Amino acid sequence: MTTTSPRPAPAVPAEPPRSPLLRPVRTAARYAVRHGLPAVYLSRAARRGDPLARLLRDPAARQDPYALHERLRDRGPVTAGALGPVTTSHAVAAAVLRSDAAGVGWDRSQAPAPIRWALRLGDELDATGVAEPPSMLVTDPPDHTRFRRLVGRAFTPRATLASAPMVRRTAEALLDDLAGRDGVVDLVGAYAAQLPVLVIADLLAVPADRREDFLRWGAAAAATLDAGLSPRRYLAAERGLRAMHAFLRGHFARLRADPGDDLVSRLVTLDGDEALSERELHATVMLLLGAGFETTVNLLGNAVVLLDAHRDQWDALREDPAGWDGAVEEVLRADSPVQLTGRSLTRDAEFAGVPLPAGTRVTVLLGAANRDPAVFADPARFDVTRPNARDHLAFSGGVHYCLGAGLARLEGTVGLQVLTERFPRLRVAGTPVRRDLRTLRGFETLPVALR
Ligand code: HEM
Repeated sequence: MTTTSPRPAPAVPAEPPRSPLLRPVRTAARYAVRHGLPAVYLSRAARRGDPLARLLRDPAARQDPYALHERLRDRGPVTAGALGPVTTSHAVAAAVLRSDAAGVGWDRSQAPAPIRWALRLGDELDATGVAEPPSMLVTDPPDHTRFRRLVGRAFTPRATLASAPMVRRTAEALLDDLAGRDGVVDLVGAYAAQLPVLVIADLLAVPADRREDFLRWGAAAAATLDAGLSPRRYLAAERGLRAMHAFLRGHFARLRADPGDDLVSRLVTLDGDEALSERELHATVMLLLGAGFETTVNLLGNAVVLLDAHRDQWDALREDPAGWDGAVEEVLRADSPVQLTGRSLTRDAEFAGVPLPAGTRVTVLLGAANRDPAVFADPARFDVTRPNARDHLAFSGGVHYCLGAGLARLEGTVGLQVLTERFPRLRVAGTPVRRDLRTLRGFETLPVALR
């Protein structure tokens, strides 16, 4: 690593250590509030036929959420769901995401006393996931603005463009390794998961040889984005989170001692008013790392399955690679890697004529908004030349608009184009298996024949 500015490590106030003896109690408290109670509640609502609860619980909806989206759409742009109002409408989704009456924070003071107590008891940095504060994903301004400003410089269009040669080199090296393999190959394990993790590892200066660890930890931890996990899955997720935090602690110490010119070195050496607390540092870098590789893998896998099912469009892209940008937008629209998000109203508001009081949690079905027939003609049709595909909300909207959207687009276009050039006859050769996730949508395994 190039040492650019050795200077004494600033004092980051460390979290007081928590007794390991109480760890099982804390885990149980966390599990009960975040997953146990929601699981019971959502399962009951799913049995009653609530479409949103079925979307979150029913195994069939993992395979195909779109039929349930249409049932919800038939009920109107804002309809009641098990967790409060839910929208499938592109116009309402965009308005909610951009509304200054809607935040991502959750006012815990409104929760019943036993829940507040369990949240306090279960609070522990080393078990904190990317959708828990102080992750910027669930933090409102002004803290959100502060976090986003600190990392934004590494994701400007100019910075992303500068990463293009590295992304292409990485994709080509992975495909060189694949070229020697015969028979059926799992494209997710061998390529779609590898490219994003290697790219984000490069940007965050983490050693590439730890990538299999990240993929394992990340795959378990990604489940914490969903509500109502089983105890077994929650424990696996927590093990992944603990391993990730332990790695980050060592990574921060190494970069403090020997900073490079990368983003994480800059974050760990901030001082004065800008310095991040230990918790903020973990939350910020963990989010970048996790968001960096847990989402783009789904874009690449979903793309290959859709293109394989529309061979004529894939052939046309090979003839005219200028179409790749549009094709990536159409994949993001038609089978969105992040299917849903939510916002809490900080004051009374009205969407599509429906008045909603302050404190309401609105579920925004991004995957359904991206198939709204009011915006996208014949929305279930996959068409890489669709003129307005880029109007999708797959990267959300408003102040939380995906920070890595440019990088994800770059990885998508370069990753798919290089794959197509290298293996023009690549085809799906077996049954792809979906990941057992609801918020994220992608494939666990994707068997392909390369030639
Ligand atoms: C196809 C790939 C990707 C998709 C579909 C995606 C989607 C999203 C969505 C929907 C959100 C906002 C969620 C909300 O509004 O509640 C988001 C936020 C975010 N994404 Fe991505 N993402 C992708 C790739 C990436 C990559 C490669 C990075 C790189 C580090 C990244 C970093 C982030 C960060 C830091 C946020 C939080 C932004 C904020 O809260 O201000 N994402 N992403």
